[in-house]
Amino acid sequence: MKILGIETSCDETAAAVVEDGVSILSNVVVSQIDIFAEYGGVIPEVAARSHLEVIMPVIDKALADSGCSWDEIDAIAVTHAPGLLGSLLIGTLTARTLAILHDKPLYAVHHLKSHVYANWLDTGRDSMLRSGARPPFPLLALVISGGHTQILYMPGHNQFEIIGTTRDDAVGECFDKVAKILGLPYPGGPSIAKAALKGDPDKYKLPHPKIEGLDFSFSGLKTAVLRAVQKEVGVPISYPSHKLKELLTEQQVADFAASFQKTAVEILCEKLVKGLETYPEAQSVVVAGGVSANQVLREALTEAYFPAPSLSGDNGAMVAAACYFEIQNGVKPIDPYKLNIYPRISIEK
Ligand code: KG4
Ligand code: ZN
Repeated sequence: MKILGIETSCDETAAAVVEDGVSILSNVVVSQIDIFAEYGGVIPEVAARSHLEVIMPVIDKALADSGCSWDEIDAIAVTHAPGLLGSLLIGTLTARTLAILHDKPLYAVHHLKSHVYANWLDTGRDSMLRSGARPPFPLLALVISGGHTQILYMPGHNQFEIIGTTRDDAVGECFDKVAKILGLPYPGGPSIAKAALKGDPDKYKLPHPKIEGLDFSFSGLKTAVLRAVQKEVGVPISYPSHKLKELLTEQQVADFAASFQKTAVEILCEKLVKGLETYPEAQSVVVAGGVSANQVLREALTEAYFPAPSLSGDNGAMVAAACYFEIQNGVKPIDPYKLNIYPRISIEK
């Protein structure tokens, strides 16, 4: 079964063709990172306009790269939740129109499910996946992106229970905010990881949040970095935070980046260990979402399943994969005239 997956929930315009939920026939991603690096973050209206400009060329290229004609496409899958309202609208309106035009069944997919199912995609790079091994159930999924930080319990395919979630900022958001304090470009995750390569992760001691159970909190860590930077450069807390970067040396930036990254990874790992203690029946751990590209985290969780780094961020292949496993588990197509978007809906709904 060949599914065209379309993803536009944030600042990547993406489309892909995937066969049977695992084989990537094509995968096209156009990122708006260059636009938003200039602004230091995503501007929703600008993102929606950019999606509109490139979505059809991206879909056309995904089809051309896959070697498939429309006749060979069995279904269309599109992200309908959660995400930026205008961005979701462009993707879903395009998918609805194409489904009507080409008479294809249309499926609406939750973005976090897609991130999880990136772990089922065969990229030919990983011996375990190449030999057909997939993460065994029941499993715990650590979903870490710019908008979410959750631990999910999955007893089987397409079954999700949120067992831990962030009470404030998402971990990716925390990387982005700390990068801003340090004067590193957006998106913060990759630029912190790069700066950290030259830094001492033990230089600055940063606190772990004291939260019982499996919930996370990342806003305190961001504030702790801010206070530590203010102390290091000798300014009062009233000093404008956007000017701090002018007072930091390159080495201090590297040391803060490394110390912050180490602490963020430790916090994620601590909660995951607690999750495994709470759910001892779990047979595997999968990590998903943009932050799963982080190399220090990958080195800390050698037993866990990670998507290929190129599939950690937003892409259409994961949407098609998630859709395939939904279909296998009895999910029915949606009327293209009635498909709605849900910018904030939970994965459990
Ligand atoms: O999943 P994603 O592409 O978009 C959302 O659904 O939010 O995640 C984007 C987030 C951003 O906050 C970005 O800074 C973070 O993932 N990120 C990373 C790395 N690469 C991207 N965080 C840490 N280390 C990385 N290497
Ligand atoms: Zn995402």
